[in-house]
Amino acid sequence: MCISLAVLEKVVREAGTIALTHFKNLKDLEVSKKSPRDFVTEADVAVEAFLKEALAREYPQFGFWGEESGKTENQSSRWVVDPIDGTHSFSRGQYFWALSVALEIDGELVAGAVYAPALGDYYCAEKGKGAWKNGQPITVSSETDLGAAMVCTGFACLRNYLEQNNLERFCRIARVTTGQRRFGCAAMDVCLVADGQIDAFWEQELNLYDIAAGALIAKEAGATVTDFQGNAGVFPKQILVTNGKILDQILPLM
Ligand code: IPD
Ligand code: CA
Ligand code: CA
Repeated sequence: MCISLAVLEKVVREAGTIALTHFKNLKDLEVSKKSPRDFVTEADVAVEAFLKEALAREYPQFGFWGEESGKTENQSSRWVVDPIDGTHSFSRGQYFWALSVALEIDGELVAGAVYAPALGDYYCAEKGKGAWKNGQPITVSSETDLGAAMVCTGFACLRNYLEQNNLERFCRIARVTTGQRRFGCAAMDVCLVADGQIDAFWEQELNLYDIAAGALIAKEAGATVTDFQGNAGVFPKQILVTNGKILDQILPLM
């Protein structure tokens, strides 16, 4: 492995401390909009600047792609970063938001970390080596019945302009499942499948930085990661993550 998960954890936890400092002082937080429903705060920018600098200091050989600062030159082996996933929740003082950092080499996800500082949960994975939550190995749930399942989704901020806007799909699936959740943080949504807290998550119109680290963590925990047709792979424009046992039941409803 070309990086140390311990070094990655040190850097991501330090970045989490910066986010928490802003989170504890929301009344002074500068919030602006990138589009009518897409928020960015000074915390997103500060956390990303720290991650970019710290990761380049530890591993100068890799490029960087961050939601707020864009792409550096080297994009064949790069960090794929969302400094705060769940910015709207963060800005409103809710606890469900996370930092997401993945290492992608020649198109393959090899390491990833998702850290929710307000919840105190740190998820990570290494390709072929497994997935962990707060240092403990994690695996997906054993639920085999979609009817008894708890599922989660999200609605892209562009939904007004999308013909296929996930609302009808949500209604179809909500009619046949027991629990439905919308947490507002795609990176954590995927990690909850990895940790067996929910049985499936799907969303469309995401970006790779929203789900790269979570997708590796979920795969290493035994999840299926596909598009809405069941093709294996990480497809941000339509991602479906399940515990594997309910995949064939949910696919016809996608
Ligand atoms: C958002 C969150 C949300 C999802 C949105 C994303 P952001 O990321 O992941 O759950 O529904 O589509 O844009 O903007 O808070 O980093
Ligand atoms: Ca995001
Ligand atoms: Ca973000």
